[in-house]
Amino acid sequence: MSMKVLQLGMGVRGEQWAAVVRAYPGIEMSGYVETNLLLAERQLAKWNEQNIPCFIDLDEALIKVKPDLVIIATPPEFHLEQCRKVFKHGIHVICEKPLTESYDESIEIVRLAEKASAFLGVSMQFRYLNVSQTFRRLITDGTMGRPSFSVFLYERNRDARRRDLNKYPIAMEQPMLLEQSVHHFDLMRYCYNDEIKAVRCDTWRPEWSTYNDDPCVAALFEFEHGLHLNYHGTWTTAWNVPYFSWRTDCTNGVLLQKELHSDLYRTFYTPDLAIRLERASWMIDNEKRFEPLIEIPVDPDVAFHDDTYRLLDHFINAINGKCELETSGVDHLKTLGVTLACVKSSKTGQRVVMDDFYKKNGIPTKWL
Ligand SMILES: NC(=O)c1ccc[n+]([C@@H]2O[C@H](COP(=O)([O-])OP(=O)(O)OC[C@H]3O[C@@H](n4cnc5c(N)ncnc54)[C@H](O)[C@@H]3O)[C@@H](O)[C@H]2O)c1
Repeated sequence: MSMKVLQLGMGVRGEQWAAVVRAYPGIEMSGYVETNLLLAERQLAKWNEQNIPCFIDLDEALIKVKPDLVIIATPPEFHLEQCRKVFKHGIHVICEKPLTESYDESIEIVRLAEKASAFLGVSMQFRYLNVSQTFRRLITDGTMGRPSFSVFLYERNRDARRRDLNKYPIAMEQPMLLEQSVHHFDLMRYCYNDEIKAVRCDTWRPEWSTYNDDPCVAALFEFEHGLHLNYHGTWTTAWNVPYFSWRTDCTNGVLLQKELHSDLYRTFYTPDLAIRLERASWMIDNEKRFEPLIEIPVDPDVAFHDDTYRLLDHFINAINGKCELETSGVDHLKTLGVTLACVKSSKTGQRVVMDDFYKKNGIPTKWL
């Protein structure tokens, strides 16, 4: 029998989720909950799903649909209340990021899932892009050697007034950190297979920003295995062309990702080669002196679809006992912890040590 899915929210992300559920064999979209009735009607028609029931009230939907899995794609301020209701029925949840904007509330959701013996996954799907999988492999199998330092740049002029974008981040505190950087921080933890030990962060708001609170983030992360990473991320720039670059200098060369969803390159470094190149530089022209970047072949992805599909696949495998859930609520507490430690550092001007942060917030050691 196929697994029944109830989806909450039919907005921007809801549309992507609905397409993924439609494409995944063995599961069935059995109902939606959406408070904006006009939008619900429009989306059902667009997706050709007028036969699927749509509810305003979650309690009623849970009783009538009896889902096996609830996908939450509503703004973060609603996630806690929705999780409270869903976990009362012992139903598995995949929740959109950030789990909530508050650490206490996110911890509460993780505890509720534990109490209900239900699986809780968080939609950190960038991990399942082919480029992220390749990046992680090149680091974890030793190809690149030990990462020493890195610069992660994400610059985008995300005009919040655009019709096709969600609107709630306009009024959010720290919209960049909680809505966007959270994905980047999760990728760093995942791709380096390492944890962030301490953070220093500053955030600010350019005067022309369409967000009420800070869309610019600069942070310095220290990782447990010695890597230092400079992060600069923004949703407000003075140019409407996006820019992405993630460069990591390792003992065996540089790993360079040029696009958020693709484009991976490397160089080769050995001390011998460095000496030879330095000597050669006296004899040959400059162009030959510099090592070329070598492209690493990575299968292309349809971003937000293929990665989400793989996240769903992984989640279903986990509930069927075939693997450990990687993108669990417990795991997300670390990514969200780093994000909220950045907020704290930005407010206080202080370096935040993650172990102290977890202790102060009452995170049990078994979750770390
Ligand atoms: N993982 C990703 O790549 C990704 C991408 C975009 C958004 N998101 C996340 O998805 C979530 C939703 O974002 P979005 O861009 O779709 O926002 P959106 O505003 O476009 O859509 C949210 C929808 O939820 C509905 N809604 C609000 N309260 C509700 C309630 N109580 N019950 C049912 N429906 C309700 C709204 O009417 C709206 O249609 C956020 O947490 C966001 O961070 C994740």
